[in-house]
Amino acid sequence: MPQVTDDFSVPHHVAIVMDGNGRWAKRRFLPRLVGHRQGVEVLRQVVRWAQDRGVRVLTVFAFSSENWRRPPDEVSGLMALVVKALGRYVPEMRDHGVRIHFPGQRATLAPEVQQALHLAEADTAHNDRLVLNICFNYGGRWDVVQAAQALVARGEPITEEGLARALALAHVPDPDLLIRTGGEQRLSNFLLWQAAYAELFFSDKWWPEFDAAEFDRALLAYAQRERRFGRISEQL
Ligand code: IPE
Ligand code: IPE
Ligand code: MG
Repeated sequence: MPQVTDDFSVPHHVAIVMDGNGRWAKRRFLPRLVGHRQGVEVLRQVVRWAQDRGVRVLTVFAFSSENWRRPPDEVSGLMALVVKALGRYVPEMRDHGVRIHFPGQRATLAPEVQQALHLAEADTAHNDRLVLNICFNYGGRWDVVQAAQALVARGEPITEEGLARALALAHVPDPDLLIRTGGEQRLSNFLLWQAAYAELFFSDKWWPEFDAAEFDRALLAYAQRERRFGRISEQL
C-alpha cells in the first residue's frame, strides 16, 4: 500500500544523476543505446518506489547541455528514445498521479522532441501525487544565466529570492537528497544552485542495475544524516 508521510526522515525531494548506462552496456558487449533503453525501464520503477516511500518530488538528469558533445548517433538515439519512451509511458504516469516537467532549454531541440515534451506536460498537468522533473538539455550554469536574464528583462533586482523564483525548478523546493549512480562523484553541471544543501549519496551501481534495495540504502543514509544548515547540533 502506498504510504504518503510527513516524516522528516523521508526526503521530500530526491534528485538523481542517472549515470552508467554506457558502461553497463559495454560490459555486456551491447550498444550504448541498449543501456539507455534499460535506463528508461529503471526510471519507471524508481517513480513507483519513490511514490511508495512518500517522496513527493523526483528530479532526474536525462540529458545535459554537455551531452551534445557525444557522437552524433548516440545523441540522435537519445532524442528518438525520449520521444518513444514518452509515447509509451506517459499514459501510465498520468494514471499514477505523476505530473511531469522538463526543466531545460527547449528552443534548441528538434520540433518533434519539443512537441513530445509539451504533450507529456499537458497530459499530466492536473496531477499532484508526485512531481517528476526530467531535466533534458539542462545545465546548472544555463539555469542560473537564464534566471538572471529573466530578472534583468523584467527590470527586477538580482536577489537570492528573485533568482530562485526564476530558475527552472522554481515550482518545487530544493532537493533534500541527491543520488548519483555509476561510481563518479561529481555534479556534472546538475542543479548547481538548488543542490546547495542537498545530502549527497554516491552509488557504484550503474543506472540500468539500480534497484529498490539501493534506493532504500540511499534513503536510509539520508535518514541518518544531521542537516545543520550552518548551525550546530545543539541548536537543532
Ligand atoms: C547516463 O549514462 C545517461 C546519459 C548521460 C544520457 P552514460 O551514457 O553517461 O553512461 P556512462 O557514464 O558512459 O557509463
Ligand atoms: C551526467 O552524466 C549527465 C546525465 C546523467 C544526463 P555524464 O555521463 O554526461 O557526466 P560526465 O561527462 O561523466 O561528467
Ligand atoms: Mg556518464
